[in-house]
Amino acid sequence: MSEQDTKTSAIWGGRFSEGPSAIMEEINASIGFDARLFAVDIQASIAHAKMLGAKGIISDADANSIIEGLGKVEAEIVSGNFKFSRALEDIHMNVEHRLSEIIGVAAGRLHTARSRNDQVATDLKLWVRDALDGIDGAIMGLQKVLIELAAEHAETVLPGFTHLQSAQPISLGHYLLAYVEMLGRDRSRAADCRARLNECPLGSAALAGTSFPIDREMTAAELGFDGPTANSLDSVSDRDFVMEYLSVLSITAVHLSRMAEEIVIWTSEPFGFMRLSDDFSTGSSIMPQKRNPDAAELIRGKSGRIFGALIGMLSVMKGLPLAYGKDMQEDKEPVFDATDTIELSLAAMTGMFAGATFNNKRMKDVAAKGFTTATDLADWLVKELNLPFRDAHHATGSLVKIAEEKGVGLEDLSIDDMQSINPDINKSVFDVLGLENSTKSRTSFGGTAPENVLEQCKAAKKKYL
Ligand code: ARG
Repeated sequence: MSEQDTKTSAIWGGRFSEGPSAIMEEINASIGFDARLFAVDIQASIAHAKMLGAKGIISDADANSIIEGLGKVEAEIVSGNFKFSRALEDIHMNVEHRLSEIIGVAAGRLHTARSRNDQVATDLKLWVRDALDGIDGAIMGLQKVLIELAAEHAETVLPGFTHLQSAQPISLGHYLLAYVEMLGRDRSRAADCRARLNECPLGSAALAGTSFPIDREMTAAELGFDGPTANSLDSVSDRDFVMEYLSVLSITAVHLSRMAEEIVIWTSEPFGFMRLSDDFSTGSSIMPQKRNPDAAELIRGKSGRIFGALIGMLSVMKGLPLAYGKDMQEDKEPVFDATDTIELSLAAMTGMFAGATFNNKRMKDVAAKGFTTATDLADWLVKELNLPFRDAHHATGSLVKIAEEKGVGLEDLSIDDMQSINPDINKSVFDVLGLENSTKSRTSFGGTAPENVLEQCKAAKKKYL
């Protein structure tokens, strides 16, 4: 190396006589985080080299030596023997530089007909695609645990809430299957995102395409994409897939946070519906009796990081002119952090539910309070006495008032109490006031009747697992 070469950047220093300042290097370098792209970067480079060889743009001998050398670079990184250099900025240059040390001048031919702009877009798409597949599997694992629990608890009665006020008795299984549906939509959104991102930017080069006779169909197919992207400018400046990915993760994070909140409430002393296993509970350093649901609280808290990643990325992109801008290097940390966060959150949620136990008696006792079968009573008045629902609602309200004044449940009222509001009421009304009868009666499609729940478990298994 000449004196000048050591001072200026080895990557792009040809036209410079001074190297970057330490601050410049620090703000510019992404290797501190984008090293995580190494496997997809090498995968994409191998596809590119194969294509360059096949099209005669480089010799077969060079292509083969590049491909073999890239395998060695990957092995070094995997084994932890690779020395990453900040002066080489990013993963792309670190890999290429090491390749040149291993195979010599042929390494310099790998970058023919491509740029880091299409390279990084391709790498990140490959990475996000893998991440989506992993997340899909993790969500499925959580659905499986929930479906198994739901089948066990089809008959278990739980007070259903609206406004967190006791509303109607429901099946705990039905409740758990509600989450299964939410998570099913999350997986479907992930699948949409995956399908939409699956076009290959490689070969768009810096922004304008290339004059080399490349075969973009070939590299796209080699990397498992449906085909090449249509517009080179769009290809290097598109981070829609990142924004969409983070949106998908954000909605999943909302769902996990809601589930987490439910766990926090349900495991609290006043509720006492649910108990987490020892391995998913934490103690207090001062209060020996405590069993804290820290994992649930952290899932609830960490959702904020995922939303932050989305907002951050939207903000990075919103003012960028075409085509590539270095701002876009800021895409990786939110993607990695949100991915790690959602994966950990999903694992913790799955672990919590897998080991959780429910206090059936407590849930039933609470469900029995709060006049939760009042709607059943109103429905009975409609069905048996042919009252318009509004009138039935009013009459039931009066009965609730009497029960409240007497400090008893609706089922404890006497037939005289009942007839004081409507003389046609007869004793068969008491049949619908029991909790089990109430849940059993809700057989409408999607309703909470235990027989439905068992059917829904079967359907969910078939659809999701
Ligand atoms: N490290 C860069 C990024 O993540 C790679 C692309 C750099 N391109 C460039 N023209 N400087 O976006």
